[in-house]
Amino acid sequence: MNHLARELISFAVRAPSGHNTQPWQFSVERDAIRIYPDLSRRLPVVDPDNHALFISLGCALENLIIAAAHQGLSARTDYFPPDEPEQCLRVRLCEGAQENVEALFRAIPARQSNRGIYDGCAINESDLERLLEANPCQSVLVRSFRVGHPDIEPIIGFVREGNIAQFNDPAFATKLVSWIRFSQREASEQRDGLTAQALG
Ligand SMILES: Cc1cc2nc3c(=O)[nH]c(=O)nc-3n(C[C@H](O)[C@H](O)[C@H](O)COP(=O)(O)O)c2cc1C
Repeated sequence: MNHLARELISFAVRAPSGHNTQPWQFSVERDAIRIYPDLSRRLPVVDPDNHALFISLGCALENLIIAAAHQGLSARTDYFPPDEPEQCLRVRLCEGAQENVEALFRAIPARQSNRGIYDGCAINESDLERLLEANPCQSVLVRSFRVGHPDIEPIIGFVREGNIAQFNDPAFATKLVSWIRFSQREASEQRDGLTAQALG
């Protein structure tokens, strides 16, 4: 594998993924890096249709593109091209990135899901508006619910009910436990899954 591709992939694999399953595999050819779903890492109980798995691939792709742009390369991605024997994301790189990705690039190794409260501040109005407008999909409606707003109360109830149902499902609990790394040694050997610390 060439040095640059290896470096870009090292940033891609720092992406978030459901239960930190890292459900991706990569291949490198002269002009293309391919990202494949690793279905041996799927979560059949919480993610029966693999949608979180494919979101995770999108996160890896995003990191790869940011890392490439940081090297001055722009990426063209083909999503599940029909001329490939297996389903994959195919990324072709060429000289000449347009965007300044410095801040995003620096965030790749710094970012971490810790399930703590953020800084306790509400998202400012203009950022929230941009988030709501960023949805490009006609068939998906995005709404925001604010803490303290009466609309959020029923949602809290649904989330609580959902959580209780999940944890009462032995298949869910068994699968979750299989992804928990109970010691630092286990975590550094496996290099995936959730540590007690990361669970918050
Ligand atoms: C598609 C997707 C779904 C996720 N779902 C949850 C979730 O339901 N609950 C949760 O606490 N974290 C969730 N996460 C966060 C992951 O557990 C986290 O990204 C993973 O453990 C890796 O840790 P990191 O983000 O610090 O690299 C999700 C992440 C992704 C990409």
